[in-house]
Amino acid sequence: MGHQAEKLEELVSSKAQLTSKKTRFVAITSGKGGVGKSTISSNLAYVLSQSGLNVGIFDADIGLANLDVMFNVKIKKNILHVLKGEATVADILIPITRNLILIPGESGDEILKYSDMALFERFMEEAKILDKLDVMIIDTGAGIGEHIQMFLKAADDVVVVTVPDPAAITDAYATIKTIATIRNDVYMIMNQVKNEREAEAVFGKIKKVALANIGSALDLKLLGKISSDLKVSTSVKKRSLFCSAYPSSGVHKDVIKIANRLSAKVEQNMLVKANESGLSGLFKRLIKHF
Ligand SMILES: Nc1ncnc2c1ncn2[C@@H]1O[C@H](COP(=O)(O)OP(=O)(O)OP(=O)(O)O)[C@@H](O)[C@H]1O
Ligand SMILES: [Mg+2]
Repeated sequence: MGHQAEKLEELVSSKAQLTSKKTRFVAITSGKGGVGKSTISSNLAYVLSQSGLNVGIFDADIGLANLDVMFNVKIKKNILHVLKGEATVADILIPITRNLILIPGESGDEILKYSDMALFERFMEEAKILDKLDVMIIDTGAGIGEHIQMFLKAADDVVVVTVPDPAAITDAYATIKTIATIRNDVYMIMNQVKNEREAEAVFGKIKKVALANIGSALDLKLLGKISSDLKVSTSVKKRSLFCSAYPSSGVHKDVIKIANRLSAKVEQNMLVKANESGLSGLFKRLIKHF
């Protein structure tokens, strides 16, 4: 760890009281691009927030049209502007619903390039306004570059999304193999499947190959599936969330099932120091893995 990183770590490990509920960080990633990460991240975040949780959604794949498109909002500034001292945390946050907030992010290596001490101190202080988040969904973007790995290490849960076509499955497996070198638990979401049976069949195949090649140390689990449905693609085109536009649809129920499984884990989260939850908690972890 570099000298700068050490200093940053010192800075964020204050001896504050245990006052905040720890935020659960859930990273959504994939091997191949275009398999539904942003669609799932945004709808999952929305459904979790509708269940009463305070939810943040962090776009770590800025630059490409992503969560801003899903939520139909315009992003002018992101976390990099805050780290450069050109905006405050409050300036960049975009409220979506009462308890859902979009945090326009940046890739991990860009973030750490701007770890200027004075500004970072201010940033951590300001980031406290997000300490009440129960869960933060991180849309990482595709592939397994070094900066994405930082988020995958820092997260409590890592979810690899795939669709059932052979190229996507191969890429998902390659991603899982890489993640297995940095952690031993990975979830999968099977997107655009015909039904539960197809989801389980595809997952079963991946699990078998993983067991044979990576070994039993890797805890690979199916978190859920989302059926292929025109309502999903139509909603994306119209810049609306399918879970809000089609509340009685099967795909909404698919997302609810996934949200329920995640909420059960959120409830296990204990009280921690304020700077270990929310946005400051995420940065604290990113620095630790730097
Ligand atoms: N369950 C589904 N049923 C039908 N279409 C879907 C479904 N999920 C995703 N799509 C379609 O796939 C497209 C790509 O999804 P999305 O943008 O969420 O992928 P992504 O993984 O975030 O892509 P990128 O890697 O470029 O960030 C969407 O615009 C949507 O039309
Ligand atoms: Mg995306």
